[in-house]
Amino acid sequence: MRLIVRAERESDTAKMGRCLGSCLKPGTNILMSGDLGAGKTTLTKAVAEGLGIDPQHVTSPTFSILHHFPEGNPPLVHVDLYRLGENPDLDEIGIEEYLDGVHILMVEWSEYLGEESPLKQKALLISLTFNGELCRKFDFEFPQELQGIAGCFQKCLEEQGIKYESTGT
Ligand SMILES: Nc1ncnc2c1ncn2[C@@H]1O[C@H](COP(=O)(O)OP(=O)(O)OP(=O)(O)O)[C@@H](O)[C@H]1O
Ligand SMILES: [Mg+2]
Repeated sequence: MRLIVRAERESDTAKMGRCLGSCLKPGTNILMSGDLGAGKTTLTKAVAEGLGIDPQHVTSPTFSILHHFPEGNPPLVHVDLYRLGENPDLDEIGIEEYLDGVHILMVEWSEYLGEESPLKQKALLISLTFNGELCRKFDFEFPQELQGIAGCFQKCLEEQGIKYESTGT
């Protein structure tokens, strides 16, 4: 299922991200792609809040590459591949210990992952684009295995009065 949300301002992104966070199941991989400043870290903060993590603790992992939030329910790992560039060596950043079916993984700059990357399996793909200075378009692609999360997310968006478009493909 595909869902498209246009967040007119940062507070919409925050609401939407909290919805997503509240619907996630242990072991979900989320791959985010989109330009510098598109809102990947901003979205991750809001998702973290939905997982019960203090969003002020979530900062860009551009230099440290990986941040771990064991206090989340489920726990969260936030990764930024920007500094590693194309086909990053994931062993080097110690990501595999978190591919345990428990942690939520949120990856910025997933366009750098190789075709065969294990992170791509059953991942929720989020593509972010600029839609004016304050508006951002979020395109969510939920694979078959994550339809339950998609349904929960859709319901939360409706409850929060956030408009979205959906298609089956
Ligand atoms: N609707 C919106 N949603 C999200 N961020 C917004 C929105 N409108 C404005 N912004 C601003 O856009 C910027 C997004 O920055 P953020 O660090 O989240 O981007 P990023 O995609 O993580 O960039 P990078 O690739 O450098 O890590 C912030 O300064 C935020 O305040
Ligand atoms: Mg970022």
